[in-house]
Amino acid sequence: MKFRSRLVVNLDHIAYNVEQIRKISKESHVLFMIKADGYGHGMIPIARYAITELGIKEFGCATISEALKLREELNELEFDIYVFSDIQLELLENVDIYLKRRIIPVISNVSELDYILHTAELKNFPICLKFNTGMNRLGLDPNDTPLIVNKLKQHGRTSVHHLISHYANASASMSENQTNVLQRTRFEEIKKFFRDSGIQLLRTSQSNSGSVEQKTGVREVSGDTHVRPGLMLYGPSSLNQNVAGEFKGKLVSVLETYILRVFEVKKGEVVGYNSTPCPEDGLIAILAIGYGDGFFNRYSGAHLYHKGFEGVIIGRVSMDMTHVFFPKEAIGKITAHEIFTIWGKSEGDFLKFCMETKTIPYEVFCALLPRIPRVYRLN
Ligand SMILES: Cc1ncc(COP(=O)(O)O)c(C=O)c1O
Repeated sequence: MKFRSRLVVNLDHIAYNVEQIRKISKESHVLFMIKADGYGHGMIPIARYAITELGIKEFGCATISEALKLREELNELEFDIYVFSDIQLELLENVDIYLKRRIIPVISNVSELDYILHTAELKNFPICLKFNTGMNRLGLDPNDTPLIVNKLKQHGRTSVHHLISHYANASASMSENQTNVLQRTRFEEIKKFFRDSGIQLLRTSQSNSGSVEQKTGVREVSGDTHVRPGLMLYGPSSLNQNVAGEFKGKLVSVLETYILRVFEVKKGEVVGYNSTPCPEDGLIAILAIGYGDGFFNRYSGAHLYHKGFEGVIIGRVSMDMTHVFFPKEAIGKITAHEIFTIWGKSEGDFLKFCMETKTIPYEVFCALLPRIPRVYRLN
C-alpha cells in the first residue's frame, strides 16, 4: 500500500539537537520532555532511541497515563519518569502506580505534599517540588517555603529529590524581561532557603528550551543540575525573533503527503466547500491531507512549495483533502501521485508555515493525529 501522508522523523536530528543542548548546558543533565506523544513525534520510539543511543536517563510527561505507557512499553530499560501536571495523586490506585512503576509525581501544592508525607507506603518516596515563581499556573507558593521546609523536617525528610521552577516567558530575553528576572531571583532565594535550613537539594532545574537557548539555568551559571528542554529537542527555536540564542537545531520531522489529483482552473472558477474562487488562471493540486489528520482549516492562505513553484492553500481545508493553487506555469509540471512535502524540505519552511498560519511550532506538531503514521529514519 502506498502511504497516504506521513511524518518522517529523523532520529539523527534528535541526536544532533541533544548534542547542541549538551554543548550549551555542559555539565547539566537533560531531562527530556517527551509529553504529548513526544511533541507529536511518537513518544515510544523517541524515548527508546534517546535512552539506548543518547544516554538519556530522565523523561518528563504531563499525565500519569503517558508515564505509565512509557514505563510499560520500555520496561526493560532503566530510566526515571516525572509527571508534571495531571498527577492525580488523590486517586488511591495511582499511588500504587507511582510506587510500583517508579514514576515521580511533581508536587505543586501543599495538600499533595501532605498526602505524600502522611502516607505510610510513601515514607521513602522521592519528593519533587515545583514552585510557582511567577508563571501563575501550577506550583507551590514561594511564601510557603518556610512552611514546606518545616513539614519536611517534621517528617524526617532531609533531602528533596528535585526542586523545579518553570518560566512564563522563556522566549523573551532572560536578562531584560522583568518576569524572567523576578522568577530567576525567586528560585535562587527558594534554593538558598532550603539549603540554609539543612535540606539537601539533590536535583534542581529551571530551564526549558528558551532559557537553555540563552544559557540560563545551566550548572555552570546557576548550579542547577538539570535542564528540561522540550521543543528544541525537535528542532525549532522557541525564542522570539529579537532574542539572541546559542542554539541552531535541526528540524526532526518532514511532513509528507501526496497529490491525489491536479486540474487546470480559470480565474474565478470555484473549488471545494464554500466554493472559493481561484484568483487567477492556474492549477489546483489536491493533497491527501486534511483536518482529519490534524491539518487545520485555519492553514488556508499559507504558502507551500513544490518543484520550485509557490502554491497557496486555497479555500476550506476538508477532512481528508487540501487544495493548493499554483500559477499556470506549473501546468504540466506538477502532476498527480507525486510526493508533496509540506514542511521539512528546505531551511526555515516549517517556521514560515507557523508564522503564516499564526500558529506556534508546539501546536502544529502536537496537532498531527494518529492517522498520519510516524516513520523513523536513521541515516
Ligand atoms: C515544567 C516544564 N518543563 C519543561 C517544559 C519544556 O518546555 P519547552 O518545550 O518550551 O522546552 C515544559 C513544557 O511545557 C514544562 O511544562
